Amino acid sequence: MNAHTVKLLPAQVTIEVPTGALVAEAIQLAGLQIAQPCGGQGRCGRCAVIVEQGAVRLRSTIRLSAADLDAGYALACQAVIEGDATVLIPEQERIERRLVTEKSARGMELPFAYDPAALQSVVAQQLKLPPPSLQDGGDDLARLQRGLADRGYDQVDIALPILRRIGEVLRQSEWSPWVLLERLEPFNGAARLVDLSAETLRPIGLALDIGTTTVSAYLVDLASGEVLNSAAEYNGQIAAGEDVISRIVFAGKGDGLQVLGARVRETIHELLDRLRKRTGVAPQDIHKVVVVGNTTMIHLFLGLPPESIRLTPYVPAANRPPRFTADELGLGVHPQAGVECLPGVASYVGADITAGALAAGLPSCEQLTLFIDVGTNGEIVLGTRDWMVSCACSAGPAFEGAGVVDGMRATQGAIEEVWVHSATLEPTYRVIGGGKPRGICGSGLISLLSELFVTGAIDHGGSFKLDLDSPRIRQGEHGPEYVLAWAADTEHGRDISLTKVDIDNLMRAKAAIYAGFSVLATSVGVELSDVQQVLVGGAFGKYINVEKAVQIGLLPDLPWDRFHFLGNTAVLGATWALLSSQARQQVVEIADRMTYVELSADNAFYDAFTAALFLPHTEIERFPSVAEVWERQAS
Ligand code: FES
Repeated sequence: MNAHTVKLLPAQVTIEVPTGALVAEAIQLAGLQIAQPCGGQGRCGRCAVIVEQGAVRLRSTIRLSAADLDAGYALACQAVIEGDATVLIPEQERIERRLVTEKSARGMELPFAYDPAALQSVVAQQLKLPPPSLQDGGDDLARLQRGLADRGYDQVDIALPILRRIGEVLRQSEWSPWVLLERLEPFNGAARLVDLSAETLRPIGLALDIGTTTVSAYLVDLASGEVLNSAAEYNGQIAAGEDVISRIVFAGKGDGLQVLGARVRETIHELLDRLRKRTGVAPQDIHKVVVVGNTTMIHLFLGLPPESIRLTPYVPAANRPPRFTADELGLGVHPQAGVECLPGVASYVGADITAGALAAGLPSCEQLTLFIDVGTNGEIVLGTRDWMVSCACSAGPAFEGAGVVDGMRATQGAIEEVWVHSATLEPTYRVIGGGKPRGICGSGLISLLSELFVTGAIDHGGSFKLDLDSPRIRQGEHGPEYVLAWAADTEHGRDISLTKVDIDNLMRAKAAIYAGFSVLATSVGVELSDVQQVLVGGAFGKYINVEKAVQIGLLPDLPWDRFHFLGNTAVLGATWALLSSQARQQVVEIADRMTYVELSADNAFYDAFTAALFLPHTEIERFPSVAEVWERQAS
């Protein structure tokens, strides 16, 4: 057998290996280190090296992008040496950086050129008014109205609290007051005076996504279109139930509706306080709010009794609420700020989906597209720019980290990706922020469930194989469990585990979502395999690993390049609508065009759900790539 010389950089070590040896073997033979968290199965992508020159055949490139391949990256565990070669082992940190996605909201790109004068409805201007005199003795209000009319605003609503300050502000500003106006649409000179001040006014807006589990907020400078900062927090209503149905039941008892309204406002005020600390923008300086959320969350936010949402024929009080002011809603921003809830479609397809569809670009999609927003409800849209059908399936909050013993939101300290060594079942994981872990977020849960399945630690039904020789699999307080991090390695000094009960919750969640896809596709007579692109928004945001989501049967088994992860599309759509009246109009058009399919009245959904309560599915022919993994494991 031929021997080849492999030069390893940057250590400058040269070693001889036979044809057919793996680069990983050459590295180990040379006494150098390389991480192989998945046990050399080409699954984790963490053994990436750069082949600078030489004859190396790549057995698998599934963890590498086209750009990686162009840059010479290869997986050491999958690279077969067939001639002399020079291989650079990058610092592990560089590999990690390559794998981690940028998570900042501030870099948000708008799909339109931002032009505040043309696009947005809240504008700040300084007026120059003639001071009163004996010859021009008109009253202060008439003087202000004249100044506004000169700027094109000839029908302006002025609220009493502003009228009460008018004399003082006009004189303090020496008749050059700042006004902040909300133009009423369609704009024909009608507006609302939101604020009047002797100081410079800066228009600031807030986009709010009220999710059943998580509330997200983007603070936006309406003059520049820049997202100043963002924050998210668990919805304070969670203590009253984890899903929309238990919240509706809670709202129907005693003062439940008021309690839930107060709790979500507390969460919003906490977010506003966090945004104030980070940006210096006081909540009182927020002049416009656009809100999205599922229909129940919008009802609870507005204090509308939601009871009819859960009773047949499932009709909400309002899919398209009118605009309110912040003081009517007790929202701690500027009291005259306009608060606009974007339109929803039905009881279980709300404004989070219409705004999400906007952010996902559905109004211009020519291809057959599946758009899913995975939150506590899995909301699904199938269609093109010409037609859209939608449904909602109750997935539960497992993928948002709630309802799972060591689950948490995708913030600092959350394990977001896991690899399990196929021989030892020892895990390696990546933690958001890089420190010790505190828990596991949605993408980490998907990743862990898939790894446990693919390495054979659990069976198709999600049950642990308790006879495996690993201290990680044990009988815990809540039944069988897998210990992902020992107490000594965690931030709180407690083991982080995934229990059988957690697995059952995750399986139900993934089965509900997949069943939703199947029923929606059947309802319009297409196959899931006909779908040309899958756009994923919601709880897992941009960080979910497609391969692993397919392996557990959460996403349909389609070529990976058809999947696009968009992050929180609901808050993104709300932000666009905050910045552009055209975007707001597009959300209305989406709501007009979307047909809703009610799953609760559908036996086909129950059958599809039961069939999907398996890893990946009872019909394995729906998941050919997973069948391949199993065959590979068995051989
Ligand atoms: S991909 Fe090579 S060790 Fe995981």
